Amino acid sequence: MEEKTNVLEVRDLSVSYTVANVKTHVLEGVTFSVEKGKSVGIVGESGCGKTTTLRAILNVLPSNGTIESGEILYDGKNILQMPKDELQEYRQKGAGMIFQDPSSALNPVISIKNQFLEALKYAHNEQKGKRLTKAELLEKAAKSLETVSLADPNRILNSYPFQLSGGMRQRVCIAMTMAAERQLLLADEPGTALDVTIQDQILRLIKSLVESGELSVVMVTHSLGVIRQVTTTVNIMYAGTIVEGGETKQVFESPRHPYTQALIDCLPKLTGSGIAKGIPGRIPDYSNPPKGCRFAPRCPYAAEKCISEKPARHEIGAEHWVACFQAEEGR
Ligand SMILES: Nc1ncnc2c1ncn2[C@@H]1O[C@H](COP(=O)(O)OP(=O)(O)O)[C@@H](O)[C@H]1O
Ligand SMILES: [Mg+2]
Repeated sequence: MEEKTNVLEVRDLSVSYTVANVKTHVLEGVTFSVEKGKSVGIVGESGCGKTTTLRAILNVLPSNGTIESGEILYDGKNILQMPKDELQEYRQKGAGMIFQDPSSALNPVISIKNQFLEALKYAHNEQKGKRLTKAELLEKAAKSLETVSLADPNRILNSYPFQLSGGMRQRVCIAMTMAAERQLLLADEPGTALDVTIQDQILRLIKSLVESGELSVVMVTHSLGVIRQVTTTVNIMYAGTIVEGGETKQVFESPRHPYTQALIDCLPKLTGSGIAKGIPGRIPDYSNPPKGCRFAPRCPYAAEKCISEKPARHEIGAEHWVACFQAEEGR
């Protein structure tokens, strides 16, 4: 029998940012795990802390960001306590990220070819048992560029970032991350800025790699459609906290948190500009977040307890939980 192993475990992660001496408490107690060979989603509206979560997992927060508490275990090792060289190895071979604004990940003064070689050099040496030659690495690079619909790989490889359009640069970054064949992919709204057909192709590529057992994924998006298409487990994020989680199908079929319910209810009205249009109010001010449930100020069912206490996770099925006092009481 195959045992479940977690590639990634995020435990009780809290992250703050400081701007002009004001501290904002963005993530609070974020907890979730990723089983080997599975795809886990984090969905929530813009500003709820999705990118912050992924950056924390790679330990690449902006310089004004601080991990206040928590653990991030990769293959059982806390990356927040890793020595520099191990952390570097983790980023080169363990986890890779497709950034929401991927052009920032490219170096403007190095050719695409050399950036590919740099990215692939670590991923494909002793890890896979043999060292690939430069020609073999470039062949991998070209193949990978084709999978993101960049038709003339050789021209692309010989270009510098400024010679490519924004959409092409984004696809180059995705190809580079994918070609490195790391164990864990952190995908931040991949392809959102691209043509829908290309976005779909990228999602299908990710899905097929997960299904072949080669890849574990954390897929971050504001799109419930993408979550349905690509993930088996989902975490619903609201204002830096995960309010509900579980098997994607179960969560969609019987959402229990009022926020999740509202998200799914307003799905037909989605226009891409935000998912919570149908919910009056807005994400709370992170410099002074609600003391109890962070959704309470917007919640139609909020009671006194919701305002004063933080709801803990409550199991409502084998693979489904919710953090909500009202849902616990069956409302
Ligand atoms: N470097 C930063 N400095 C200060 N605040 C930040 C920084 N990066 C993100 N934030 C704030 O943290 C919150 C969460 O942002 P983010 O993680 O980007 O959310 P999402 O990816 O879900 O849109 C937002 O309020 C955002 O303004
Ligand atoms: Mg983001």
